[in-house]
Amino acid sequence: MAALFYIFTISLLFSSVSGKLQDDFAAEIDAKVLGFRKEKLTHFRVYWHDILSGQKPTSIQIVKPPSSVLASNGFGIVSMIDNPLTVGPELKSKLVGRAQGFYALASQEELGLLMTMNFVFDEGKYNGSTITVMGRNAVLNKVREMPVIGGSGLFRFARGYVEARTHTFDLKTGDATVEYNVYVLHY
Ligand SMILES: *[C@@H]1O[C@H](CO)[C@@H](O)[C@H](O)[C@H]1NC(C)=O
Repeated sequence: MAALFYIFTISLLFSSVSGKLQDDFAAEIDAKVLGFRKEKLTHFRVYWHDILSGQKPTSIQIVKPPSSVLASNGFGIVSMIDNPLTVGPELKSKLVGRAQGFYALASQEELGLLMTMNFVFDEGKYNGSTITVMGRNAVLNKVREMPVIGGSGLFRFARGYVEARTHTFDLKTGDATVEYNVYVLHY
């Protein structure tokens, strides 16, 4: 026991001295070297358009469960999306990016989606930067919170959450417009 403790202590000491710079593939560096100085919180509001109808849908069903197990709530259905993100609720309002990814009906009991999508922006300084949203979306709830689990470009090291609220839903076509408030910590 004492010997084990001794070895453990020695290896800790050794790694704290040598681990920083002499590892050949990893080294601790100062965040400022890469320009990461002060973390800030940004709030975006965008409208997400899930368009199933018409000649050029932005949301298409790509996985259909076998009919033998097809549930009335569609459990198992997966849709791929490339949904426009606009500043206003109208589709023809200014386009600022797209939500690309997929959602899946992941609940056997209710309407609970698994959302996995990247918001890619093409506006001003955010052009090309992305935020990754992954979470549970109980679409019948008034407000659905989902985590922002990462990002790229201006959103490196991003973390945060979104709040989704259905703005309009067309029962006939399935088309939906959803307001997304995004709160993201990044540098
Ligand atoms: C965004 O970047 C792309 C390529 O990097 C460029 O073609 C496009 O014009 C840019 N858009 C805006 C709005 O700056």
